[in-house]
Amino acid sequence: MKVIKVKDYQELSQYASKIIIDLIKEKPNATLGLATGSSPLGLYENLIESYKKGEISFKDVKTFNLDEYIGLPKTHKESYYSFMHRNLFDHTDIRKENINLPNTEGEDIEKEVKRYNDSFNQASIDLQLLGIGSNGHIGFNEPGTPFDKETSVTKLAENTREDNKRFFNSMDEVPEYAITIGIKNILQAKKILLIANGKNKADAINKLINGEVTEDFPASALKNHPDVTIVIDEEAAELI
Ligand code: F6R
Repeated sequence: MKVIKVKDYQELSQYASKIIIDLIKEKPNATLGLATGSSPLGLYENLIESYKKGEISFKDVKTFNLDEYIGLPKTHKESYYSFMHRNLFDHTDIRKENINLPNTEGEDIEKEVKRYNDSFNQASIDLQLLGIGSNGHIGFNEPGTPFDKETSVTKLAENTREDNKRFFNSMDEVPEYAITIGIKNILQAKKILLIANGKNKADAINKLINGEVTEDFPASALKNHPDVTIVIDEEAAELI
């Protein structure tokens, strides 16, 4: 694991976005695994800026998102479908057919789990972008998830719902379930880029860097991958 410590969120977004911009320049038809949440917002702004300057195009880029809430329609502003369109896709020339997210609107969720897992496994992810939960989750693979698990319906941990409450009016509105790709799927990516900022992530980053590999701390599975870069700001690095 390569650990890059930078000063603040701005530098983190700069550093991490450059990795993705360089990848797209080198491989214009790259397949990216993408995350939602607060951590990648600055990075996505930088990708949009780079696209607007004409440095990169998303015309041939393919994307696969990690997860999607169950129980929110696509049109809900906190669905990950809406999040990705609002914060990245709508501001680039990416083709609709190249965007992939679990679709949790249909009746048959298990069928969708299988469909998404199959299409994810057929794609070869050049770079998987990850945030990390304060409890060490990656995607929505909560503590205790077997490392060999593939895409599934997952029940969000209560502390994950607490962490995500900030996006909703009340705790009642925070979804309880999601579809997430599994740890096994994540580890198939050629490269993994994990970003974390703020004091709230310091404990998780310490466990990731200095702790043991255990299913009780899902992100520790990344130690089994040969090409992982972690970019953290000073606050997230506080305990290492
Ligand atoms: C998002 C995802 C989650 C987040 C994690 C950190 O698609 O799968 O694992 O990356 O919860 O979220 P933020 O960045 O909001 O702290």
